[in-house]
Amino acid sequence: MRAAVYERYGPPEVLHIADVPRPRPNNDEILVMVRYSTVNRLDCHTREANRSNGVAVSLLSRAVSGIPRPRQPILGTEFAGTVAAVGPAVIGFRVGDTVFGNTGLRFRCHAEYMCVSEQARVGTMPAGGSFDEFAAVTDGAFNALWCLRQADIRKGSRVLVYGASGAIGTAGVQMAAHFGADVTAVCGPNALDLVESLGASHVIDYTRDDFTHNGETYNVIFDAVGKHSFKRCKASLEHGGCFLATDGFRNVLLALKRFGDKRVRMALPPRYPRTDVVFLRELMEAGEYRAVIDRQYPLDDVVEAARYVETQQKVGNVVLRIADAA
Ligand SMILES: NC(=O)c1ccc[n+]([C@@H]2O[C@H](COP(=O)([O-])OP(=O)(O)OC[C@H]3O[C@@H](n4cnc5c(N)ncnc54)[C@H](OP(=O)(O)O)[C@@H]3O)[C@@H](O)[C@H]2O)c1
Repeated sequence: MRAAVYERYGPPEVLHIADVPRPRPNNDEILVMVRYSTVNRLDCHTREANRSNGVAVSLLSRAVSGIPRPRQPILGTEFAGTVAAVGPAVIGFRVGDTVFGNTGLRFRCHAEYMCVSEQARVGTMPAGGSFDEFAAVTDGAFNALWCLRQADIRKGSRVLVYGASGAIGTAGVQMAAHFGADVTAVCGPNALDLVESLGASHVIDYTRDDFTHNGETYNVIFDAVGKHSFKRCKASLEHGGCFLATDGFRNVLLALKRFGDKRVRMALPPRYPRTDVVFLRELMEAGEYRAVIDRQYPLDDVVEAARYVETQQKVGNVVLRIADAA
């Protein structure tokens, strides 16, 4: 089968297309013909061994992914496709089912076929669901849910999502709105209409206005893109408010401290329960969540796709077309 592989850490150019053996499902596994996957920030960070985040984080990244070279040569965490075979103990899936999900740090989705345990983060797609959209459902949403669940968001809570146009940001706006919050989305000028359509009641263009100087305060400030800081927005938090971080080692340390009645929250390691696959499917069926897709690339153009993701300018998600391209 064809797959995008890498044998050493480095820039997008270390990726190339190769013929590799098709995996066989173990007892409790399903074999998925992957129709679509995504290229996301986790793929890119892992491929470059997190070099851009400093030596300590890079060493940690290698400890997880392999020293001195990657143990798993196929990246890709998100998938949507068709069940091609099932292991003898599988009871929840049948050949022909359309499925979607997320393999996390096990990766292997940038290939025509991959195996996943039926106990893992995989679920069936609703009838009529499109493979490209369902491939992009989980990554941003899992991360947004992981963060937002650390705050006590209730109906009417005032939540500001900074970096609302990214994969996590577009999901964060929708999830906060689903939890009943009054959402303010902060993004660049090109995404203002989009984030409003996702459920934001107020939008702020960060190239024109600085929300830390407008006199408004929020119960929760969610930095969905890792570009803001607790220090800069502390005064914009209500009493008892919290700053939710997605990224940055400094936030892990700040989360251990108290700042009056204000807090930084960043729970590690992130937890992505498999029940969230069903939760997301239900939200999509109810019209309360959608995956925002910026660009699509064929598998052959995986290097281009990775280069684009690394610009940090994508709006929502970048999708990789796999089986259809074969
Ligand atoms: N996705 C993952 O698997 C994952 C997992 C864990 C942690 N993280 C971390 O979480 C953060 C967000 O990830 P992501 O995948 O959601 O990012 P992303 O989709 O790559 O974010 C891109 C978006 O961020 C916006 N942006 C860039 N710089 C900005 C700034 N200074 N202020 C406001 N918006 C800005 C861009 O809009 P403009 O063009 O308008 O600036 C663009 O729409 C990253 O720090 C990432 O490392 C990601």
